[in-house]
Amino acid sequence: MKKNRLLILITALVFLFAAGIKAQNNQIAIIPEPVNIDTGDGYFILNEQTKLYCPDSMTDSIANYFNSFINVPTGLVLNKTGEATEDNVIKFIKVNDTTIGGEGYILKSGEHQIVIKANDYGGMFYGVQTILQLLPPEIFSKKKIDSVEWKIPSVTIRDYPRFGWRGMHLDVSRHFFPKEFIKKYLDLIAMHKMNVFHWHLTDNNGWRLEIKKYPKLTEISAWHVDRENEPWRERTPPKPGEKATYGGFYTQEDVKEIVKYAAERNIMVIPEIEMPGHTGEVFAAYPELSCSGKKTYVSPGGWPGEDIFCAGNDSVFVFLENVLDEVFELFPAPYVHIGGDEADKKTWKKCPKCQQRIKDEHLKDEDELQSWFVKKIEDYIVAHGKKLIGWDEILEGGLAPEATVMSWRGEKGGVESAKQGHNAIMCPVGYCYFDYYQANPKFEPEAIGGYTTLKKVYSYEPIPEELTYEDAKYILGGQGNVWTEFMPTPEHAEYMAVPRMTALAEVLWSPKSKRNWEDFRKRLNVQFKRFDYMGVNYSKGSWKVDIKTEKSKDGKSFTVKFETEQPDYPVYYTLDGTTPDTTSLLYTGTFKVDSSVTIKAGIFVNGKLMRDYSQRSIYFNKATCKPVELKYKPVKRYSGKGASTLVDGVSGTIRHRDGNWLGFRYNGLDLTIDLKEKTEVSK
Ligand code: ACM
Ligand code: ZN
Repeated sequence: MKKNRLLILITALVFLFAAGIKAQNNQIAIIPEPVNIDTGDGYFILNEQTKLYCPDSMTDSIANYFNSFINVPTGLVLNKTGEATEDNVIKFIKVNDTTIGGEGYILKSGEHQIVIKANDYGGMFYGVQTILQLLPPEIFSKKKIDSVEWKIPSVTIRDYPRFGWRGMHLDVSRHFFPKEFIKKYLDLIAMHKMNVFHWHLTDNNGWRLEIKKYPKLTEISAWHVDRENEPWRERTPPKPGEKATYGGFYTQEDVKEIVKYAAERNIMVIPEIEMPGHTGEVFAAYPELSCSGKKTYVSPGGWPGEDIFCAGNDSVFVFLENVLDEVFELFPAPYVHIGGDEADKKTWKKCPKCQQRIKDEHLKDEDELQSWFVKKIEDYIVAHGKKLIGWDEILEGGLAPEATVMSWRGEKGGVESAKQGHNAIMCPVGYCYFDYYQANPKFEPEAIGGYTTLKKVYSYEPIPEELTYEDAKYILGGQGNVWTEFMPTPEHAEYMAVPRMTALAEVLWSPKSKRNWEDFRKRLNVQFKRFDYMGVNYSKGSWKVDIKTEKSKDGKSFTVKFETEQPDYPVYYTLDGTTPDTTSLLYTGTFKVDSSVTIKAGIFVNGKLMRDYSQRSIYFNKATCKPVELKYKPVKRYSGKGASTLVDGVSGTIRHRDGNWLGFRYNGLDLTIDLKEKTEVSK
């Protein structure tokens, strides 16, 4: 017995020693993964004597950023120098190197010096982000840390982005978030080497941008009656005399501060001013701009009303052009986003002015009227030296001549735009909507619906298959969208955005050939430490076991493989339909199955099942040698709650339908179907 214990102890020590070596080797965890990285021996140590070589104004700004970043955790303020020294120095050197292009950088670190070369501010900034990730994760701390040696391993990195548009969107209309959170969000965008902040500033639930010419937009349209205690979809409309107390807005001074903060982090801020729909809040202040002319209230929640801007009323364009004049002044980015999504055109059908416009402009229908509306706005935007972006609905009725399309209802909008020679940004709802559930809804805070795990985001390929090499060049990149109906606080928005934005960042930056889920998942553990030091409320993932099956060549068996987002924890499983525990089979690799089974598998932490187990039945027909798998695939129309037929004849009861997703109960299971993707997505 004693001998056995000694053996266990020795084995444990050997294991710990090996794990220690592994941890050391794994110290380099850069996200997104660089194009090329070679590791060397030794370390550069950051200390009071380290100098920053920054010979010009661009590199001087970078040195200031670096100093301000490291000052809090290290207490250091590094001296800047214009003299090229060789010892204990970090050198920022502007070059002209076509092999790394815009935003690319070359970083060489050794024991005596670190050199970052880049063509532009963006590249230099990303070289700095890489240095920060080469340092211990404590460098992201918001407090001084004394116990750490600030070591940077020797490496040579050559790196540049795959796509030019690497965006994150944030809806501040459904819930208003303070300026300080916007800065934290920008810090997250920057550390992921993303470069666009798409700021959804106006929508039915609140106008968030000070417009000097129209003060009622912030006096009235920025506020609604507080219904935060009610479910979003069932919020009671305001009662007569009730005060509108929930909301807020950004002053023009706030916006300037945020735009500057973003620019220092190589982030372009794209304002979104919605039109012609999603504009109910405007009519609370300026009812004369809608078709009905009826005074409305700012909606405290729920879905948009029918009122949209009246396309037949010239004063609408005067209003919008005046608003855009101030937007042009505030936002230096070359783009303005004008929304264009989900415009309910029912009122246009009934409105005599809109119908007159259709006649006068020889338009076919209301779709063409929206197209006419967008073109008119585009003319104004282009005349002011800017470019228009709209959601993919702007394709309907004909695209404005120079418009860029944001493809959100799947990839079709992006494909169509690229084929028409228009730029497109990919953010299909099934991969890039971070308001969707990221794990089993049973254990998650309420979300809008859907089911988009971290792994699914990581699997996203922004260039749609059907595009030719030539057309693919119109795909500028992609972005993650964070709609905040179900995110009442900044912490909640963080939880939904992170780490899915981490996965998307790698999709958009790293070469496709470098994408490797297992490797990413290991590096993510280090990123989690960084988030911990930053005080980011990130999601720890889905804790779901994906049960994958592959039929053997002779058709007589299946190979079963489990995949999870948690490579560091054991998976236990059963094949007889019983609930797994730590006495069940331990998963050690793929295994074969040659009869009908029900697999149940779960991740265990400290002997406890995390969240829930996954389940999959394989029906194996020995007579025909044909495995039969149950597929949940909707084929019938869904008009609301009630029974429905699925493709294989199985019936379920629809619980809710919401946009692209459908929840229903089948055989004791809560299933969610993504109608766009036509897949069964959760148990
Ligand atoms: C959108 O999600 N309505 C663009
Ligand atoms: Zn009208």
